[in-house]
Amino acid sequence: MSAPLITVQQAYKSFGTVRVLEAVDLTIKAHSIVGLVGPSGSGKSTLLRCIQGLDTLDAGGVTCRGKVGFMFQDFQLFPHMTVLQNILYAPRLKEKGAALEQRAQKVLEQLKISAKSSVFPMHLSGGQKQRVALARCLMGQPDILLCDEPTSGLDIVTTTEVVSLLQSVCALGVTMVLASHDLEFLAQIATRVVFLKEGHVVADEEPCDTSSLKERYTTIFSHKE
Ligand SMILES: Nc1ncnc2c1ncn2[C@@H]1O[C@H](COP(=O)(O)OP(=O)(O)O)[C@@H](O)[C@H]1O
Ligand SMILES: [Mg+2]
Repeated sequence: MSAPLITVQQAYKSFGTVRVLEAVDLTIKAHSIVGLVGPSGSGKSTLLRCIQGLDTLDAGGVTCRGKVGFMFQDFQLFPHMTVLQNILYAPRLKEKGAALEQRAQKVLEQLKISAKSSVFPMHLSGGQKQRVALARCLMGQPDILLCDEPTSGLDIVTTTEVVSLLQSVCALGVTMVLASHDLEFLAQIATRVVFLKEGHVVADEEPCDTSSLKERYTTIFSHKE
């Protein structure tokens, strides 16, 4: 048995008087795709941010074995840069040369967005922007990718695309944690679903299909999705 890639131990986090994470324990194995579900405000984004180190815990700890990438909900592409410039910007701060550009082209091809490499973000659809955001993450060669609400703001056709897109990233050997309220999406992609309720992990199971996942959600959170 290899050691887990991500270990969260007794994590606590509050914002003022609002307790957002409470005694959260979580271990994530390599090559898994873990869904993080719960109603709005249940602490999904906060947990991802603390795993990434964008935010600090009040108590407890997070250990990640490997590089962590983060795909933001609103993509946060640089509007004044082309697709290629967007994905080259951060790695160029550390590395120069033609090899980097070749790697960028390869990543754009892998994510089927190379035709847009000289286009500015304003001319891309939501799904295309997401491919670019993902390409930018992959340029950092992460072992772990954290995605916050990867299907929000995308239509249903695009959701199916996101499933195959993220599966192709998983096939590259990247372990993923996906915070999402989209149970249909998670039922298609997640190998495991962790339920967060008021900052606690209240269930942790393998999803079967959309309807049973929705049923579990309703039972756990006692309201309809
Ligand atoms: N930077 C922050 N400052 C103050 N409160 C915050 C901050 N970030 C999140 N919160 C609060 O923490 C709770 C959990 O938020 P969040 O992690 O975004 O939940 P989710 O992603 O599940 O919707 C919410 O009550 C939210 O208002
Ligand atoms: Mg959130």
